Amino acid sequence: MTEHTPAATSGAVGADGEAAALEHVRHAERAAGNLPGLPRVDAGWRPGHAAVVGAGTMGGGIAMALANAGIPVTLIDRSTHDLDRGLSRVAANYASSVRRGRLDAADADQRLALIGRATDMAAIGQADVVVEAVFEELAVKQDVFGAIDRHARPGTLLATNTSALDIDAIASVTSRPEDVIGAHFFSPAQVMRLLEVVPGAQTAPLTVARLMALGRLLGKAPVRAGNARGFIGNAMLFDYHREALFLLEEGAFPADVDRVLTQFGFAMGPFTMTDMAGHDLAVDSRRRAIATRPTGRRYCDLDLWLVDLGRLGQKSGAGWYRYVDGDRTPHPDPDLNRQLAEYSARIGIERRRIGADEILERCLYALVNRAAWLLEQGVAAQPSDIDLVYVTGYGFPARKGGPLYWADSVGSADVLAAVERLHRQHGVWWEPAPLLVQLARTGAAFADLGAAANGVLS
Ligand SMILES: NC(=O)c1ccc[n+]([C@@H]2O[C@H](COP(=O)([O-])OP(=O)(O)OC[C@H]3O[C@@H](n4cnc5c(N)ncnc54)[C@H](O)[C@@H]3O)[C@@H](O)[C@H]2O)c1
Repeated sequence: MTEHTPAATSGAVGADGEAAALEHVRHAERAAGNLPGLPRVDAGWRPGHAAVVGAGTMGGGIAMALANAGIPVTLIDRSTHDLDRGLSRVAANYASSVRRGRLDAADADQRLALIGRATDMAAIGQADVVVEAVFEELAVKQDVFGAIDRHARPGTLLATNTSALDIDAIASVTSRPEDVIGAHFFSPAQVMRLLEVVPGAQTAPLTVARLMALGRLLGKAPVRAGNARGFIGNAMLFDYHREALFLLEEGAFPADVDRVLTQFGFAMGPFTMTDMAGHDLAVDSRRRAIATRPTGRRYCDLDLWLVDLGRLGQKSGAGWYRYVDGDRTPHPDPDLNRQLAEYSARIGIERRRIGADEILERCLYALVNRAAWLLEQGVAAQPSDIDLVYVTGYGFPARKGGPLYWADSVGSADVLAAVERLHRQHGVWWEPAPLLVQLARTGAAFADLGAAANGVLS
C-alpha cells in the first residue's frame, strides 16, 4: 500500500458530531416515510387480521412482529410437522425474552395466543395482509402466489419477503399485480428494524402507502427501494463482502478485518456476521453461477472454499473462526489462517501486511461508491435512505450517521480521489459512480442532493 488518507477513514467523532449524526438518522427515518405522490393512509388504519405463508426462520419472526403489534395472524405452512417446528421456535423465542426479563410471561402468552395456524391456504381468505416467506425459489413463490390469488379477498395487501427475486415475476402470476409488493424484512424479523418496501412495475401507490404504514405499526423503519437485484442493502453488502474477501486473499486474516470494522463502530465484522448466517446458503446456485459470470474481472471464491472445508459457520463449530460448544464467541483459528496463506500462494498472490486504513478504505468506500450508483439508478430515492438502511439493517454505527453521512464528513473530493486510486489499483469493480464524480467536481455533498436524487442536484 502506498498512497492513502488515514484522516479520511479515522473513526473519531466528537460528542457534538455524534449528536448531529444521531439527529440525521432520526431525520432520515421521517424523510423515508414522507414519500411524495403517495395517497395518505388513515392514521387509524390497521389490518384486522394477517396471514404469513411459510413458518420458517423469517415467517416465524414476521408473525411475532405482527403479534407484538397486537395484530392477529395465521401462520400457514405445508404440513403439521412444518408448523409444529415453526411455532415451537416462536414459543422458544418468547420464552427466552421472558427469561431475560424483556417481556412478562402474561404478555408473552397473550402474543402467542394471537398466532394461529393452518395448512390450508383457504385461511388466507380472512386476512387483510398476507406476507409470503417460503423458500427463495421463483417457481415455489409463483405457485404460492397463485394460491394466494385464489383465496385472498379483493384489496388484500399481498407482500413477498423475497431477498433477491424479481417482484414483477412474482406478481405476474396473480390477477392483481397492483396489490403485490416486496416486504424485505431482516433476520431476526421480530427484532431488526429495517423493512425494505419494494414496489413492482404495477404496484399501486396505495399498496406502497399501506406497507409503509404497516411497517410503522410494527415499529419498523420502512424504506422504499427499487426492484433491482439486492434492492438497496444487499446490493451494497455484495461490494463490502467482495472487498473483505479480497483482503483475505491479499494478506489479512478474518480477525484483522473484523477488528478494524468493529473499532470503526460496526456491531460486528463481516466474517463474524457470515459465520452467524451460515456459509451453505444457496451453495449450488453459487457454484453454478461461476460458469456464466463475466470475464475480465477478479472474483473470489473463498467462501465456497470454506464450505468445501466443511466449515459452515457457527452451526458446524467452525467457519472463519472456531467455536467452542454452546458458545458463540469467535476464536481466531491458526489452522484456518495457515490454510488461507496456502490458498493465496496457490492462486499466485504474495501476501503482504495490510493496515487498518486500507481495510477501512476498501470496505467503506465500496459501500459509498455502490450507494452513489444506486442513487443514480433510482434504486434508492435519497441519500438519507441509504443511511437509514445501513444503520437499521446492517449494523453501521448510528453515531456516524450512515455511510453517506460519514462520506460527507470525509468530503466528496477525498472520497472520489480514493475511489479513483482504488480503481487504478484494483480495476473495474471500482469504477467511480458518475454521481460521485459530479459531487466532487462541483464541491457538493450527498446531503445537497434532494429527495428523488437520481443524480440530479437540487
Ligand atoms: N433467512 C434470512 O436471513 C432471510 C432474510 C430476509 C429474507 N429472507 C427470505 O425469506 C424467505 C424465507 O426464508 P427463510 O430463511 O425463513 O426460509 P426457511 O427455509 O427457514 O423457511 C421456509 C418455510 O417455507 C415453507 N414452505 C415452503 N414451500 C411452501 C409452500 N408451498 N406453502 C407453504 N409453506 C411453504 C417451508 O416448509 C419452511 O417452513 C426467502 O424468500 C428468503 O430469501 C430470508
